[in-house]
Amino acid sequence: MPDLNDATRGRILYGGDYNPEQWPEETWQEDVRLMRQAGVTTVTVGVFSWARLEPTPGGYEFDWLDRLLDLLHAAGIGVVLATPTASPPPWLGHLHPETLPQAENGTTVWYGSRNQFCASSPEYRRRAAAITEQLAARYGQHPALTMWHINNEYGTHCWCDATAAHFRRWLQHRHGSLEELNSAWGTAFWSQHYSDWAEILPPRQAQYIRNPAQLLDFARFTSDALLECYTAEHAVVARHSPGIPVTTNHMPFWRGQDGWAWAKRQDVVALDLYPDPDDALGAQYGALVQDLARSMAGGPWMLMEQATGAVNWRPVNRPKPHGLTRLWSLQAVARGADAVCFFQWRQSRQGAEKFHSAMLPHSGPDNRTFREVTALGAELDRLGPAVSGAPVTAEIALLHDWDSWWAGEQPGRPSQLTGYQETVTAWHRALWESHHTTDLAHPAADLSGYRLVVIPSLYLLTDTALDNLTAYVRSGGTLVCGWFTGVADHQDRIRPGGVDARLRELLGLAAVHHWWPLAEGDRVHCENADGTGFDGALWSEELELADAEVHARYRSGELAGRPAVTRHPYGEGTAWYVSTQPEPEALRTLLDRAAREAGARPAVEGLPAGVEAVRRGELLFLLNHGPQQAKCEPPGEWEDLLANRRADATVVLERHGVAVLKPVGA
Ligand code: GAL
Repeated sequence: MPDLNDATRGRILYGGDYNPEQWPEETWQEDVRLMRQAGVTTVTVGVFSWARLEPTPGGYEFDWLDRLLDLLHAAGIGVVLATPTASPPPWLGHLHPETLPQAENGTTVWYGSRNQFCASSPEYRRRAAAITEQLAARYGQHPALTMWHINNEYGTHCWCDATAAHFRRWLQHRHGSLEELNSAWGTAFWSQHYSDWAEILPPRQAQYIRNPAQLLDFARFTSDALLECYTAEHAVVARHSPGIPVTTNHMPFWRGQDGWAWAKRQDVVALDLYPDPDDALGAQYGALVQDLARSMAGGPWMLMEQATGAVNWRPVNRPKPHGLTRLWSLQAVARGADAVCFFQWRQSRQGAEKFHSAMLPHSGPDNRTFREVTALGAELDRLGPAVSGAPVTAEIALLHDWDSWWAGEQPGRPSQLTGYQETVTAWHRALWESHHTTDLAHPAADLSGYRLVVIPSLYLLTDTALDNLTAYVRSGGTLVCGWFTGVADHQDRIRPGGVDARLRELLGLAAVHHWWPLAEGDRVHCENADGTGFDGALWSEELELADAEVHARYRSGELAGRPAVTRHPYGEGTAWYVSTQPEPEALRTLLDRAAREAGARPAVEGLPAGVEAVRRGELLFLLNHGPQQAKCEPPGEWEDLLANRRADATVVLERHGVAVLKPVGA
């Protein structure tokens, strides 16, 4: 299988989405000239070009794309060629309204925007395969072709009749018989028993809380149905272009696609990332989703989209201050990106995104944005040979699973205030702020390479995952397990005893008698064994211990006096349990302590707050996300690759400053 290296060939790819169909052809010459000036290596073409490529059913027009690809190739610019299937032309919806998605309440989602397709529609799939075949046959061997890009941000949902039929087939395959399905969905509850497959529907709008197991299976099905669309197009382009990698771009931490399953089918994992420049924790959010992209890829990944400045879809869209685009781009490189790209090359004058920033803004190249883009292109070019392909070092794994997200975030649960992504973010933040580098991992993945494994909260854990965790700790690993974990099995049945018996044994708990969620704004005070204290929020639990040691006790509320945080030696290892959501500083202290006890260390000790240090291969990246200048003293002797000189013993990073250091002599 080809991989990202087949596209980068030892460089860092640099560029963005290019939508030349929005411009007269005279502009293309200027585009290419400015791309070269900016150090652009690669552009993504054709993402939303279906109506231009096939303006009438079966009436293809490729001349313009022929000219464009030749022009780019002559300029030495590679092309990530997209299949345009994310945005079918109006004629498809007009002739075949059954290709349009239907919402939960049966209303049609019309054309006039984008993404108006039903993944289960045979007609949509037929038309998507046809345009893909045409493109692949025509350009599959084009010398500019660097990578294939399928569709764009797969994320649609549909509840129509074709979806219902497809869902039934998927369920038959998953459950085998109607009896099994009734059992898996617990249909004895509320008279939901099915006596015929034909009765089964996607979970459409209903009077009251819908069947949680049905919702869970529908989330799994939707991810799989979209993945089928992806793999069908992947197969077409791969047939015409052996050796050329194929990708699709993921939205960051997107609920609708099981990223672990998708990544297995992609040659390259590509991510779109838009942290809010006004968010003080924007860099941490970026780090989290970059860590996820790297972990999905199992190595280098592609930053397919980011913004040079403002987006157009927040309530208030502010530009990025000077230096932030560079800082966040190099952060992605530090965390494993071998491609740094933007949405988009030239800012649109019309359409829904005319206020979205671009590499080349409305005001043209004589602009801070374009100067920064150009400077970044030169720096990435310089870094490429030292960085490209190098692995990122992480000694800690944070466990994440879409199944658990889907099952755990449904109506009818103990608290609607808890959010899966918020909890993962809080735990990742605690590690990030104490300067540890973290991978994300599936709960059934091989964890033996990690010194510490943390579970923010995994409501659903399969038998395989539970056995995996047990084996990991027994053979010497350290686990820190957060609240409301191990409660449901793969089909969202509550485990006997409320929490799985294997997990209780691992954690040294006799029972979790009650989940005791906290009201909005409520805090529960906890006291550590050493007399220090912290507040917990969102959640608490009434625990009964077997042989775990108490690390902290609740000191306020209904659970005052009872254990809150526990520690349990198990086999050769240690398992902690954290039954509330500690305030950020307390979680940081706890996880840092567990990491250090397990032998995991940050890349550099004693870093100032806001400075991120990441090891990639032999390189050390230092990134200053703080509001002012920061100083670091990484032990050893270093060459500063960006400044192109020997680094001082004290590395001074200005606001938004970055140093990429290579050991002297390496
Ligand atoms: C992405 C999308 C791009 C563009 C961008 C704007 O979600 O893939 O086409 O719309 O957002 O931020």
